[in-house]
Amino acid sequence: SADATGAATGAARVNPNAPTEETVLSVEHYTDRLFRFRITRPRSFRFRSGEFVMIGLPKEDGRPLLRAYSIASPAWDEELEFYSIKVPDGPLTSRLCHIQPGDKVLLGKKPTGTLVLDALLPGKRLYMFSTGTGFAPFASLVRDPETYERYDEVIVTHTCREVAELTYSHNLVADLINDPLVGEMVEGKLRLYTSCTREPHEHQGRITDLIGSGKLFEDLGVTPLDPTTDRGMICGSMEMIQDTKARMIKAGLTEGSNAAPAEFVIEKAFAG
Ligand code: A2P
Repeated sequence: SADATGAATGAARVNPNAPTEETVLSVEHYTDRLFRFRITRPRSFRFRSGEFVMIGLPKEDGRPLLRAYSIASPAWDEELEFYSIKVPDGPLTSRLCHIQPGDKVLLGKKPTGTLVLDALLPGKRLYMFSTGTGFAPFASLVRDPETYERYDEVIVTHTCREVAELTYSHNLVADLINDPLVGEMVEGKLRLYTSCTREPHEHQGRITDLIGSGKLFEDLGVTPLDPTTDRGMICGSMEMIQDTKARMIKAGLTEGSNAAPAEFVIEKAFAG
């Protein structure tokens, strides 16, 4: 094995897949459960908007403690952004939530994922359905010009328990209009539809129920899901994915992948 060879020859064992050490550039806390942070991006780090990567911190014994995180920044960005939950007894997030600018974070070398434009067939209207931190991959895709080159209309839904949990998506989409790269592209094309399940809000209820009752489409003033024109991306808890996927299938859409692009794609929202 490589280990035995290294030991026998005394050569340094350099793992080409080992994470790189990146620097925290900024941190913003939204609620006691949610925050985002930005880190340096190595020149060699390539990814497609919507993909995820392993990130983490060294454990006390020096070994890396890594978890999958969707990259929330677009592929063209010089920095990398992540949107994270804070779990008080979560091995990684309980520590990650204390990071400050200047601190080091470990970044994996192999981004991957299914929530990419290449896994979908061309269409007219792209839906991105998210709950909780499942908004992260869509924070990347709504900032990518390619999204607007491929679709006439982009509708992002974000459902959370409480109104304060919608701050990140709300601010991000509101600020996009001023973005030098995609500002003009999003005008009249991108719409954010938010709903809350445990607090009063303009729209109430789970996204699955809003699709099922047709209220989502009424509120948006669009025709119901149609496999000839509509494409979907889904990111949330395992249950949310399964239930939203069932709605897509009921509407006649077929699940796609990188190898076989089709009409909708899914990915679990990762949480520490
Ligand atoms: P609810 O409050 O009715 O559980 P969580 O923080 O638990 O991940 O939930 C985030 C959001 O996703 C909540 O608004 C929650 O609604 C909603 N949700 C949870 N399970 C499902 C599901 N199976 N289908 C659709 N939405 C769901």
